[in-house]
Amino acid sequence: MYEMKPDYYTGIDFIDKEHTRLFELAQETYDLLQDDFSQDKTSAIVQLVSELIDYTRVHFSHEEAYQKSIDYPYITEHAAQHRQFEDSLSQIDIDALENDLDEQNETVENLLEFLAGWLINHIKKVDMLLVK
Ligand SMILES: [Fe+2]
Ligand SMILES: [Fe+2]
Repeated sequence: MYEMKPDYYTGIDFIDKEHTRLFELAQETYDLLQDDFSQDKTSAIVQLVSELIDYTRVHFSHEEAYQKSIDYPYITEHAAQHRQFEDSLSQIDIDALENDLDEQNETVENLLEFLAGWLINHIKKVDMLLVK
């Protein structure tokens, strides 16, 4: 479901590794959602979702530090996109996920769709400009 595809590779090793990790976390969360026999599923899912969100922020800061180090001319525009997405991430109510057990699968699936959709679009259109 969620994985790196050949056209997501920028050729910058640390960026590709971090993107890979983000997709792995999304896939792990998705797999756990489908697993009806796992114990403490809710708290494990909440844990994974917050890890995914935190790691997205960490990745953005690494990417921006790299852009600074190479004097990338479009760092302001690129960082603005990161900030905008971080704003949407901060609106996600993690505690509500935990209480929202009945609809949890759908809520988390939608969240993963939203996260992965944004990432794929950003990687292909914006991160890729770093190597053009
Ligand atoms: Fe980026
Ligand atoms: Fe990125």
